[in-house]
Amino acid sequence: MDWGLKNRLSRIIKPETGRTVMLAVDHGYFLGPTSGLEVPRRTIEPLLPYADSLMLTRGVLRTSVPPEADVPIVLRVSGGTSILGELSNEGITTSIKEALRLNAAAVALSVFVGSPHEKETLLSLSQLVSEAEEYGIAVLAVTAVGKDMVRDARYLSLACRIAAELGAHFVKTYYCEEFETVVNTCPVPLVIAGGKKTPEKEALELASNAVARGAVGVDMGRNIFQSEAPLAMIKAVRSIVHQGKRADEAYEFFLKEKSR
Ligand code: 5RP
Repeated sequence: MDWGLKNRLSRIIKPETGRTVMLAVDHGYFLGPTSGLEVPRRTIEPLLPYADSLMLTRGVLRTSVPPEADVPIVLRVSGGTSILGELSNEGITTSIKEALRLNAAAVALSVFVGSPHEKETLLSLSQLVSEAEEYGIAVLAVTAVGKDMVRDARYLSLACRIAAELGAHFVKTYYCEEFETVVNTCPVPLVIAGGKKTPEKEALELASNAVARGAVGVDMGRNIFQSEAPLAMIKAVRSIVHQGKRADEAYEFFLKEKSR
């Protein structure tokens, strides 16, 4: 791995703790104006100081994030489908030249293992890795799951390992039972998605279990920005990921921050 790529990755996965709290706000690329992200700028601005990176599309970056913001960008470059269509039918939406112009630290693309467009999405990942590596940009593979896919260790290990084999520098996946198997069989760092909004206590337990079992952190969206107190929630997630707080301690912290 060359210096530029290592440097970009270390802006996302913090060397002090070896961990990261990525804030995912890319949902609109297939969901449109998702609840909590109707006006992205309003959601993003207060959370920015607490995000180790921001995962989003170029459209939201250009319109809703101040260019002075000192936050590494993980640019979503796959899409082309909506929740109304066949989700796996994604292609590459944004070039590496554009990613460079936008000063992205990494680019992100979803792979849909086991779905109708498995092959195209995996080949897109390979192509993206080859192009991104030319310029030292890191690639995050997102192991997307189709509507009927089981999110178990067997399936997620398959998807994560394939993404790493094709050259992804880090992988975003889901937490599951026997998550250690997914971590131990994937040779690159893993972060977990938060998934659908759940009560704050549960989302904090998810984050805590994931890092305890080897994830380098979270790339969390809805469980932060759809929280009743997004700022308190991102701070509580940070306390788990970077300070090693237990889930119950982090929940207490969340309640205290929320009432401030
Ligand atoms: C879907 C995605 C997202 O849109 C998003 O990043 C998911 O984050 P969360 O589940 O925490 O809301 O990557 O594949």
